[in-house]
Amino acid sequence: MARHEYDRERFIPIPEEILEIYSTWRPTPLVRAKRLERVLNTPARIYYKNEAVSPPGSHKANAAIAQAYYAKSQGIKRLVTSTTAGQWGSALAFACTFFDLECTVYMPRVNCQQKPYRKNLIESWGGQVHPSPSEHTDIGRKMISEDPNNMGTMATAKSEALDDVLSDDDSRNAVGSIMNFVLATQTVIGEEAKTQLAEDYNDYPDLVVGCVGGGSNFSGIAWPFFRDMVEKKTEMDFLGVESTAAPRLTMGEYLYDHADTSRRSPLFKMYTIGHSFVPPPIHTGGLRVHGSAPSLSIMVKEGIVRPIAYNQVEVFEAASLFSRTEGILTAPETAHAIRGVIDEAKKCKESGEKKVILFNHCGHGLLDLESYVEYNAGRIQENNADPIKVRQAIQHIKDLYPWINK
Ligand SMILES: Cc1ncc(COP(=O)(O)O)c(C=O)c1O
Repeated sequence: MARHEYDRERFIPIPEEILEIYSTWRPTPLVRAKRLERVLNTPARIYYKNEAVSPPGSHKANAAIAQAYYAKSQGIKRLVTSTTAGQWGSALAFACTFFDLECTVYMPRVNCQQKPYRKNLIESWGGQVHPSPSEHTDIGRKMISEDPNNMGTMATAKSEALDDVLSDDDSRNAVGSIMNFVLATQTVIGEEAKTQLAEDYNDYPDLVVGCVGGGSNFSGIAWPFFRDMVEKKTEMDFLGVESTAAPRLTMGEYLYDHADTSRRSPLFKMYTIGHSFVPPPIHTGGLRVHGSAPSLSIMVKEGIVRPIAYNQVEVFEAASLFSRTEGILTAPETAHAIRGVIDEAKKCKESGEKKVILFNHCGHGLLDLESYVEYNAGRIQENNADPIKVRQAIQHIKDLYPWINK
C-alpha cells in the first residue's frame, strides 16, 4: 500500500489472488444509457460503468479486497475502519471473509439508524459494528460526555477507529478513500471502461463524471483518462459532483487539514470545510465528509476537474428518472453523478453537441430504500450546509495552523 501511495511506477500489477476474487464480478458492465438519452432527447451519448454489481453493491469492494490481501500477507489479524453510508464497512467485512481476518467497523449513529440493513450486512459477513460515538474507545466516551446527543459523522467514526487500532498491535486501520493507494486500486474501473468503450462501442469520452466524497470512485474512473489526456495532449473534461450539505470543492478552501476530528491523522493539503464542521444529516452518508483527496483537490485547484454541488431534492429527482429509464435503483451518492450527467446532456440538447459522457455508476440503492420512501412521500429536504458555520470551521483550521494556512 505504501508502494502504491508513494512510488512513481506507472503500473503496479494486481496480484493473482486479488484477480481471482475480482473475477467473480469483474469486469463490471459498461452500459449505454439509451433510454435515459431518449427521455432527455439529447444528442449526447451517455455510458455508465456499473460498479453496483459487486456483492457488497459498490466500487468499495475493489479497494477492500486489495487491503485485506496485503494485510493478510503482512500477518495482520484484524482490520479496523470507519464507514458512513456503510458501503465501505460492508465491502471491508466482505473482503475480510476471503482472508480470514477479523473486521471492526465504526459507523456514525445517524447512519446506523438510517441504514440498519448496511449494519446487518456487515454483521452477516462476520464484522463487528460500533455506532459512533461509542463507549468502546476513549475518544468516543469523551465525545459522548461532551454531547450525549452526538449523532456522529465520518470524522467521529474515523477518530474512534484510530483510537482502537493504536491500542492493538495485531490490527491495522483500513481506509476507504482519500489516500492515493485507495484511489489507485480503484483505477481498475477506468482501465476496464476504456477497453470496453473502445472494443464494444468504438467510442471515447469527452466528459467523465463521478460523485465525490473522499474521491475514490471519481479518481478510479478518471485517472486512466487523465493519463491519456496528459500523454496524448488531448482535451478532456472532468466533472466532480458533491453534496450541498458538505460542499468542500465548491465552498471549501484549499488548506492543510486533518481527516478526523481528534486531529490524529496527518495534515492533508485538500479542499476542506474544516474537520469541526458537522454537515446536516442527509441520506447520502458517503458524501457527508469535510475533505476530499489531495490528488483530486489539486486537480480542482488546477482547473482540471470542474466541481459542482447539488442538494438532496435535485439528486433524488435524478435518481427517480434514472430508475424509471434504466431500471436501476441507484445509491443516493451515485445519484449526484447522475444529476450532473442529466444537466450536461440537457446542455447538449440546447447546443446540439454530440458529446460522449461517461459516468461511474458506483453503487446501488437497494439498501437505501428508506430514503426513497422519504422521497416518494415528498419529505426530502434540501439540507444545505450553513455558510456561516462553514466559514467558522475553516477559520478554526486557519487559527490552529496559521504558519501553513495563511
Ligand atoms: C456508493 C458510494 N459512492 C460514493 C461514495 C463516496 O466515496 P468516494 O468519493 O471515495 O468514492 C461512497 C462512500 O461511501 C459510496 O458508498
